[in-house]
Amino acid sequence: MKIISSIEELRDHLSGQLRTAFVPTMGNLHEGHLSLMRLAKKHGDPVVASIFVNRLQFGPNEDFDKYPRTFQADVEKLEKEGVYILFAPTEKDLYPEPQEFRVRPPDDLGNILEGEFRPGFFTGVTTVVLKLFSCVQPKVAVFGKKDYQQLMIIRNMSKQFALPTEIIAADTYRADDGLALSSRNMYLSAAERAEAPALYQTLHEVAQEVRSGHLDMFALERQAMEKLHARQWNPDYVSIRKRDNLQPPSAGDLAQGAQLVVLAAAKLGGTRLIDNLEI
Ligand code: PAF
Repeated sequence: MKIISSIEELRDHLSGQLRTAFVPTMGNLHEGHLSLMRLAKKHGDPVVASIFVNRLQFGPNEDFDKYPRTFQADVEKLEKEGVYILFAPTEKDLYPEPQEFRVRPPDDLGNILEGEFRPGFFTGVTTVVLKLFSCVQPKVAVFGKKDYQQLMIIRNMSKQFALPTEIIAADTYRADDGLALSSRNMYLSAAERAEAPALYQTLHEVAQEVRSGHLDMFALERQAMEKLHARQWNPDYVSIRKRDNLQPPSAGDLAQGAQLVVLAAAKLGGTRLIDNLEI
């Protein structure tokens, strides 16, 4: 695997490649990321991964400096997956001057759910993803459904800017007990790790209620939040939304069988976990 930090060198290596499959990451790779690499391999060749901890998507209370950096271990994992190029720019490589142009998602997609609790987060994400796409010029790019809203926003960005990159969605990779794999799981104590699958179970219960005809979404969301509270979680939201635009479904939408997804974010101890389930 070639490890490249400069944009020029990356472009030289990829010139003439028309089927590049790209997986952007912030490193600290786990099985979930590796499953994205495997999916990328099915959709294109060569596979390019990136590792870049993107300062623009960190809020003032989120510690950019403390984000886990495990570069050597990440390299070994990517090599085993047969990744062709690892693009690992420094901040100077990717942002040689202050990044003043930004891509701001529309408020009704970027300022809801995660965006409400992490102001500016999605602007940071879309700005870096557009820039990474411009460096790699991939035919396809793979994003996990674990970050459902991020996936939707990037898909819409790609469509509205007519980018030549197809966005591929990868299913969430879960531990045997259902917990979605995430870099943040390493912060859970043993007791919290044992409790953590309750978030996914809660999503299942909500989905089950909807499937069995319980259509008071607000009541279902409130009940789910109360259950999490009772188990010592501190939920930010449990929310049932339409899959296509992440807006709350109207009675008309429900009558027409709109496709739904239930999304949740909640703190367990000091660790904030997110998850979602398509209904
Ligand atoms: O999902 C992530 O790891 C990041 O948000 C991404 C897409 C690599 C952009 O920094």
